[in-house]
Amino acid sequence: MVLEIHNINNRGNSSLLDTYTHSAARAHSSWSNAVVYQVYPWTFAEDSDRQPQLGHGSIRGIEERLPYLEALGVNAVWLSPFYPSPMVDGGYDVADFKNIHPDLGTLEDFDSLVRAARRRHIRLMVDFIPNHSSNAHEWFQKSRRREGEYDDWYIWHPGIEGENGERQPPNNWASVFSMPQRQARARGEMEWLRDDEWTPPLPAWEWDEVRNEFYLHSFAVEQPDLNWSNPYVREAMKDVMRFWLDRGVDGFRIDAVNHIGKNMKFPDEEINTAYNEEWSDNPYDQIIRHHSCNYPRTLHEYIWEMTQVLKDETYEHRDLRIILEAYMGESDLRDIDAIAPEVASTFNFGSLMASWDANNRKIQMDYYHERLLREAVPNQVNGNHDKSRLVSRLGDESARAAAVVSLFLPGMRFIYNGEELGLADAEIPEDRRMDPNGLRDPERTPIPWDDSLPNNGFSNAQPEDLWLPVNHADSHKAVTRQEGDNKSSLALYRAALRLCHDLPAARTGKYCSLQTDNDQVLAYGREDEGTGAQLIVLTNFNHEHAIKACVPESSFVIGEVVLSSLEVEQKNQRVDVRVGVTLAPNESLVIVRA
Ligand code: GLC
Repeated sequence: MVLEIHNINNRGNSSLLDTYTHSAARAHSSWSNAVVYQVYPWTFAEDSDRQPQLGHGSIRGIEERLPYLEALGVNAVWLSPFYPSPMVDGGYDVADFKNIHPDLGTLEDFDSLVRAARRRHIRLMVDFIPNHSSNAHEWFQKSRRREGEYDDWYIWHPGIEGENGERQPPNNWASVFSMPQRQARARGEMEWLRDDEWTPPLPAWEWDEVRNEFYLHSFAVEQPDLNWSNPYVREAMKDVMRFWLDRGVDGFRIDAVNHIGKNMKFPDEEINTAYNEEWSDNPYDQIIRHHSCNYPRTLHEYIWEMTQVLKDETYEHRDLRIILEAYMGESDLRDIDAIAPEVASTFNFGSLMASWDANNRKIQMDYYHERLLREAVPNQVNGNHDKSRLVSRLGDESARAAAVVSLFLPGMRFIYNGEELGLADAEIPEDRRMDPNGLRDPERTPIPWDDSLPNNGFSNAQPEDLWLPVNHADSHKAVTRQEGDNKSSLALYRAALRLCHDLPAARTGKYCSLQTDNDQVLAYGREDEGTGAQLIVLTNFNHEHAIKACVPESSFVIGEVVLSSLEVEQKNQRVDVRVGVTLAPNESLVIVRA
C-alpha cells in the first residue's frame, strides 16, 4: 500500500488525512475496473486565476481540482461537452467539434489538462456527439445553402402536400424534447384537445426558410441531425475522434448513439397504444421507435465503424475505450454490446430505471451480469446530468446504500459530479432555466467547494452571471465541510473507493448472485478465483427496521465488516454470514473473508 501526500493546490483547506490516496493500486487499474467521474464543465469549477470571473466553469478549473479527484480515488474523468456552442442544450449543440468554448478556455488549456491528468494517473474520456450538431455549425450553414458537398450532410426533405396545399412534414417522427408540449398544455394553450386525449409530441421536422425544405432534429430545433448515411459525414466524424485521440484523450462517451441508425425511407412510426402518462410524462414516448432511431441495420454498421477508429494501428497500442449512451431495450443493447466488446459497451442504465427495491435491484443485477459477453467490460451507473440526483430520487440514506451497492460491483463505475457529496436537485427559478426539455437543470447546479458567499467557492462572479445558480440549500454539503466529517457522504465515497482499489475481490472478483433469507435484504458477492479472495455486500432496503439476515448458500462463514454505508469506518467487527448479520435501516455493509 503506497500512501501519497498531495499538495492541494486549490481554494479549499484540506486536511492531510483527507488527501492521501492509494496511488499504486489506483494507478495500475485498467478500464475493466475503472472509477469514472463525470464532470459537467459548465458548473464544476472556475479557476481562481481567471480575471474577470465569468461564472462558468473552466478547463483550468477542472485541472485545479484534479487533486480532489485523485484523493477521491477516481481513475478516469468523462468530460461532458466543452465545445463551442450556442448552449441551447447544455453544450450538446456543438458548433465546432474540434475546439473549446471560449468561455471554458482554449485548446492549450485542454492540452495542459491532459498532461496534468496523466501525471496523476487519471484518464480522460470526452463526450462525442455524433447524431447532431448545432444549427450554428458551419456544416449546417453550408448545407442549408446547398453548398457543394455539404448539400447532403443533414437530413433534408421537401415534405408532403397537406389538404390546403401547405407543406407538411413527411412523417410522424417526434422530437425527444417534447416536454414543452406538456407545459404548454398545462398553461391552457391547447384547449382544443379533449381531456382524455394525449398531448401531441413536437414534430422532429422543422421547415427551413433558407433551403425551403424540412430538416430532421431528433432533439431541439437548433440540433439538426447529421446524415450518417452519407460516408463523407461518417469520415468527418471519425476525423473528429482522431483529433481528440491525437490530443491524448483515452476514449469517448458517445452521446445518444441509437439516434444515428435511421430508416432513410422515412416510414411513419407506430403509435404506442399502451402509453399512459404515469409511465412516462414525455409525449415523445407515445411513439414506438423503430425507424426514426434504433434502426439496427445502419446503427450497428456505424457503431462498428466508430469502434474501428480505436483499433487503427495508430492507436491500437493504447488502452482506449468507448461507452455508448443508448436508451433501448435490453436485447437491443446486447446486440450493440456484441459489436466490439473489447473496446466498447453500452451504459448499464438498469439501476437508474429500476425502483429502489431489493427484488428489482437483484433481478436487474443478475440479468445484467448473466447476459454479459466474456470479453465485455461491465459498468454501473447511479446518475448523470440527465437524471434527477440520486439523493433526490432515493433519499439520503438509501442513496448512500445505493452507492455502496454500485461501487463494489465489477467494471467501470460512473460517478456523476456532486453525487459523492450527496447533492440534491435544486429549485431553479423560472427565469434561470436553461434546459430545452425543461427538466434537467436541477441536477446541474454548481459544485459547492466551500460554504463561502456568494457562490460556494465555485466562482467569484456575480451570482446572476452564473450559468446556473448555486443551490444554497446544499451549502452545508460543501467539500470543505465534508472533508472534516468522517461520516459524510464524501468520506463514504473515499473510503469505498479506497477499498475498491485495495481489495483483490473488489478489483478482479467475479460477480456472484446470492440469496438471503429476507426479501428486503439484497446480497451479492465478488470472488477472485486466482486468490480465493471474496467479499459480500449486504443491503437492507427497509427504511424503518433493522433486519438480521443471513446468506445460507455463502461459501464463507466468518467475515469482517470493512465498510458501512451509514457509519463508514468499521473497527474489525466480525460476523458470521450464515448465522446472520444485523443491518440498520437503509444500511449497506461490505464484508470480506476474515
Ligand atoms: C444525450 C445527452 C443529453 C442531450 C441529448 C442530446 O442524451 O446526455 O444531455 O440533451 O443526448 O444530445
